[in-house]
Amino acid sequence: MARDLVRLITCGSVDDGKSTLIGRLLHDAGAVPEDQLAALRTPSGEVDVSRLFDGLDAEREQGITIDVAYRHFETAGRRFILADTPGHPQYTRNMVTAASTADVAVVLVDARKGLLPQTRRHSHLVGMMGVRRVLLAVNKMDLMDWSRAAFEEIAADYRALAAELGLSEVTAVPVSGLGGDNVVRRSADMPWYAGPTLLEWLETTDLAGAAPGPFRMPVQWVNRPDADFRGYAGRIASGTVRPGDPVTVLPSGRTTTIDRIVTMGGDLSEATTGQSVTLTLADHLDVSRGDVLADAGAPPEVADQFEIQLVWMADAPLLPGRAYVVKLGAATVTGQITDIRHRINVETSEHLAARTLELNDIAVCHLHLDAPLTFEPYAVSRDLGGLILIDRQTNETVGAGLIRFALRRSANVQWQALDIGRAERAALKHQKPLVLWFTGLSGAGKSTIANLVDKRLFADGRHTFLLDGDNVRHGLNQDLGFTDADRVENIRRITEVARLMADAGLIVLVSAISPFAAERRMARERMAPGEFVEIFVDAPLEVVERRDVKGLYRKARAGELANFTGIDSPYERPESPDIRIDAAALTPEQACERIIDALRDRF
Ligand code: ADX
Repeated sequence: MARDLVRLITCGSVDDGKSTLIGRLLHDAGAVPEDQLAALRTPSGEVDVSRLFDGLDAEREQGITIDVAYRHFETAGRRFILADTPGHPQYTRNMVTAASTADVAVVLVDARKGLLPQTRRHSHLVGMMGVRRVLLAVNKMDLMDWSRAAFEEIAADYRALAAELGLSEVTAVPVSGLGGDNVVRRSADMPWYAGPTLLEWLETTDLAGAAPGPFRMPVQWVNRPDADFRGYAGRIASGTVRPGDPVTVLPSGRTTTIDRIVTMGGDLSEATTGQSVTLTLADHLDVSRGDVLADAGAPPEVADQFEIQLVWMADAPLLPGRAYVVKLGAATVTGQITDIRHRINVETSEHLAARTLELNDIAVCHLHLDAPLTFEPYAVSRDLGGLILIDRQTNETVGAGLIRFALRRSANVQWQALDIGRAERAALKHQKPLVLWFTGLSGAGKSTIANLVDKRLFADGRHTFLLDGDNVRHGLNQDLGFTDADRVENIRRITEVARLMADAGLIVLVSAISPFAAERRMARERMAPGEFVEIFVDAPLEVVERRDVKGLYRKARAGELANFTGIDSPYERPESPDIRIDAAALTPEQACERIIDALRDRF
């Protein structure tokens, strides 16, 4: 029988004596091989324990590969994986990553200083990530004359903080990492302390979390070696399963029973939390990667809108309204943050207003998914309640989200079916709906060219509408400015209006800078396949700046107009537009001809 494995995170900075304390723990617990000790022995035969910690094998786990080192060690009683993260505030994302798999946390404070803002930050983060069991190590007791009163005051302060943060199990231990007091060996200088030593606590603390909960397994892949066998492979997130158990497949909601539990070593009569297995079902149902198999008597919920806590992990800010890839369990969908309710200052627990999030910010947000997913609140299941956000252009993991609850709004607003569809509306106009999307720098000629194309189509008897960025900003979008976040929202609204107009059977022309590739892609994906035509009105900055029809480039250069596209706000050139217009070489009339030509068989 393998010894218990404990995943541990330590929180504290170098000044708190973290390296010395952990080094002391390893040394006194006999967790360091003799050859390693020999290398660190000074001429007088002493071992500098603070350097032991650095000498441990460190390994980086996969996933969000940021600054988290995992160190393995074992004592007589248990095996440990210690996640070590740098202590500075800018490493919030690293701490969050490490805490997301931790069973317990050791929070270090200096007895001379008591609780610091960073103690609060560390505790907030471990609590938020679902760690309930904390050991508060009040270190450097030797420098406080082993004062019981000082220790008890700090312990009481911390208990109050822990209660506020939902850390239900706190054990405070007075220690001296330097001398090894109450680390492994009981301290002769603190006879008044009767609780466990650090090692005793680590070796005996109860690891069983909340009740194991009903059976859930996200399907990682469908195993179909031949026509006869169809198995669903995954890791059991919670509960126990046996052949014959009724299960529901989510989100579809179909029910069947478990036929077999298949593993490399043969069939099992039972499998439980943490095991990786392949399940076969009694009935042939349509199950795919990302679905969840669950106890039919207590299935989890399915929803597409949530309130989440979001930790932003990227240098580029979060932009509400932008489409990100969302991964939850084994499922992947796209979704947007629709609303930042408030940002949280983790050192004071204050709520702050925010329109975007920067690296390491933590906020309560609303998340809207483009398809419903099976979930549980993060507090119930880290597997089915924790999600990540991925940037669609860079594939970088940009955020970690913890589901608090589903927003019911989604269930109460249903799609109303209409008898007259887009096909009928378009047929009446003898045309196919189309969205001609003109993008390019301000002054490149988008509106002029779109206007000519519009006139041509109108003269041909087409039903059209031209949505011009400047005009829409006078009405529907008059509340929006030119920050990145506002431009994302501007394009999102224009996209939705263009879609409604296409549904009405119109040929829609949109003329907006639309500087970001992500939102142009979103606009394309909102339309029916083949209905979106990206027209890049390409003019070099020097040319549009020289023309400066509206005098805005001059103002921007003079510092009188902030966030001006091309000057101090980016324009991401389309990589493969459907039509590219060389606006420096062509007159607007020639550009119009090109576009009409290119679209001839599309109407
Ligand atoms: S977008 O970036 O959100 O797509 P949109 O096309 O709606 O922009 O509006 C751009 C128009 O607003 C420009 O043609 C220009 O006349 C005007 N404008 C005013 N301030 C700015 C600015 N800071 N950046 C770009 N355009 C601006």
